[in-house]
Amino acid sequence: MKSSKNKSQIAVAPMMDWTDRHCRYFLRLLSPHALLYTEMVTAAALHHGDAARLLQFNEEEHPVALQLGGSDPQLMAAAARHGELQGYDEININVGCPSDRVQSGQFGACLMADPGKVAASVSAMRAAVRIPVTVKTRIGIDDRDSYEFLQEFIATVAAAGCGTFIVHARKAILAGLSPKENRSVPPLDYPRVYRLKRDFPHLTIVLNGGITKTAEVSEHLQHVDAVMIGRQAYQDPWFLTELEQMLYASAVPDRQAVIEEMSVYIERELASGVPLKQMTRHLLGLFNGQPGARAWRRHLSENAHRAGAGIDVLRAALQRLPKAA
Ligand SMILES: Cc1cc2nc3c(=O)[nH]c(=O)nc-3n(C[C@H](O)[C@H](O)[C@H](O)COP(=O)(O)O)c2cc1C
Repeated sequence: MKSSKNKSQIAVAPMMDWTDRHCRYFLRLLSPHALLYTEMVTAAALHHGDAARLLQFNEEEHPVALQLGGSDPQLMAAAARHGELQGYDEININVGCPSDRVQSGQFGACLMADPGKVAASVSAMRAAVRIPVTVKTRIGIDDRDSYEFLQEFIATVAAAGCGTFIVHARKAILAGLSPKENRSVPPLDYPRVYRLKRDFPHLTIVLNGGITKTAEVSEHLQHVDAVMIGRQAYQDPWFLTELEQMLYASAVPDRQAVIEEMSVYIERELASGVPLKQMTRHLLGLFNGQPGARAWRRHLSENAHRAGAGIDVLRAALQRLPKAA
């Protein structure tokens, strides 16, 4: 069932407020192979706002995919074009987010009910860019949770030229659950995603949701082309290095050396006015399970937000770790 296509088998999920460019730079140091996704950017924000700032990323992040939110085909096409010109490797459409803000904008998970609308965006975007246009979705919404509903959605959107679907293996409940609850309350149904791959073998199917262990990843990869990891990659970023070893026999990096490398980046960004905390907040979980992890987190949490905090805060946090951690 494994795809022979030479694509990454791991991806880090789009996560608002978490996977910004500083986070992605850091995760890339841990995982040379993962496809990294941006936070969602709405097509409307790109149209009305400061597109250059919203799309900023570092060359080192490649391969990196831009996630867009929206459902107006022309706006989505223009946003995709912006993304391609900026250098992104893929454009992804968010058909999975259940927040109220997103529903009132007529995009996110509620779009599952209108596959024709998603297909229209895919067609317009495909006509505007050469890079792949992909879709991230759920297995259903509310009481529309049959396999046939999902199958019909995928078939319609695939016919418009989308060749890759990332499927969060739980449905979204649009009323009554917060986005956070929607990431844990509806039960996971992995076999449903496996079935999609069986029924659409020519599509690239990426499974997402609830993955926290390397053994789970090997199991899923027996059935689908790739996996996308969200919370586990952020909260315990070392997990990515374990996946790297398992899937690509990558060398194990040294945590302190990663921080040394990260400091060069941080110093550069500090010089251009980025506050220290905006970068160090992503590093808190690096030493999880290691001696000194708590002191590391604590030093950063208590000091990085202070006015004028500089690289010395990070150096001092490193000093709190035993030398061979
Ligand atoms: C803080 C946070 C922000 C998220 N923001 C987005 C987003 O912008 N776009 C999106 O498609 N999914 C978003 N998600 C959902 C994740 O991409 C992913 O589908 C979900 O967390 C399930 O994967 P996991 O169990 O591996 O975390 C977010 C999740 C979290 C925890």
